[in-house]
Amino acid sequence: MNMRNILMLVSMVISVIIGAAIAHGGHTGSSGAVPSGKVLIGLSLDTLKEARWQGDRDLFVNQCKSLGAEARVESANSDDSQQMKDVQSLLTAGVRVLVIVPHDGVAMAKAVELAHQAGVPVIAYDRLIKNSDLDLYMSFDNVKVGAMQAQYLVDHLPTPGKGSIVRIYGAPTDNNAKLFKQGQDQVLKPYIDRGDIKVIHEDWAEDWKPENAKKIMNSAITKGAAFDAVLASNDGTAGGAIQALTEANMAGKVLVTGQDAELPACQRIASGTQAMTIYKPLKSLATGAAETAVKMATGKPVIARDTTDNGKEQVPSVLFDVVVVTKDNIVDSVVKDGFHGYDEIYSAIPADKRPAKS
Ligand code: BGC
Repeated sequence: MNMRNILMLVSMVISVIIGAAIAHGGHTGSSGAVPSGKVLIGLSLDTLKEARWQGDRDLFVNQCKSLGAEARVESANSDDSQQMKDVQSLLTAGVRVLVIVPHDGVAMAKAVELAHQAGVPVIAYDRLIKNSDLDLYMSFDNVKVGAMQAQYLVDHLPTPGKGSIVRIYGAPTDNNAKLFKQGQDQVLKPYIDRGDIKVIHEDWAEDWKPENAKKIMNSAITKGAAFDAVLASNDGTAGGAIQALTEANMAGKVLVTGQDAELPACQRIASGTQAMTIYKPLKSLATGAAETAVKMATGKPVIARDTTDNGKEQVPSVLFDVVVVTKDNIVDSVVKDGFHGYDEIYSAIPADKRPAKS
């Protein structure tokens, strides 16, 4: 973040970013004039293969529309060179602000540079872009997400605080995957140091793919050592792990964690093969990012209360709260928030086994 361009009000830990579009020169060069005409916002996604990102995209596009702007979306299919091409084509199309979910948080620093050369500010969406002059980071407290997953696991082992576990991390290219692990480590370390919790197998699921998580789970099962729980870092990897457990006739017998409150994960929680997930209110993130992008594009001030170190600088950040979801509060959290319908979640559960609707 260029200090010349950003006015940071340090009091009460509130940072105010004044018109980053103007700050970076916008499309009119460095004159400071706000571009007029249609507000075009670019959204460059890593992937649309997981349900979560389709939800983010739809909310983002609709919010842009309702603000009179237009969102142009590209998805890179987990490929860094494709994502660079996507960024280039969005810039060529004339987007005034670029919102990026990086496949690789390090590789996408180049995209920030490219955007700035075109006078376009960049918002890193959900995943941080490292070592760059990033304008804004909007996400959740990802270390806390990891800590919540691990705390749930520790508290719900058959003997709380003691047991053997398998750990499945996310994509090594995703900064969030490292933050989730960091939060998990913070909680687990004392138990592991005392020898109360034993990690019998651990690995990173490349590109967060369920099939890679399934392979990791199969390797753990093949080892033959008993385990009580699987600390899976998101719902996709939990799904892959649960498939492997199902094939080994172990589903529902070991605790499995997750994250994203995806519909299949909520259904697994309802049926008992997954113990928990983390609900991240995507509506707040996606609509917040769309609103912020449009503000930046039209030279309006944007408020960011947090900062995040991206290796180069303290990036102004907006971080939203998350909620632990278990069978006891699905209705009060994801259903109440309209994230999924009650009937969709409990479609496979007999009526007399379902919880009250509200
Ligand atoms: C997101 C998770 C998501 C994962 C895989 C992470 O960066 O924070 O919500 O499950 O990517 O797409």
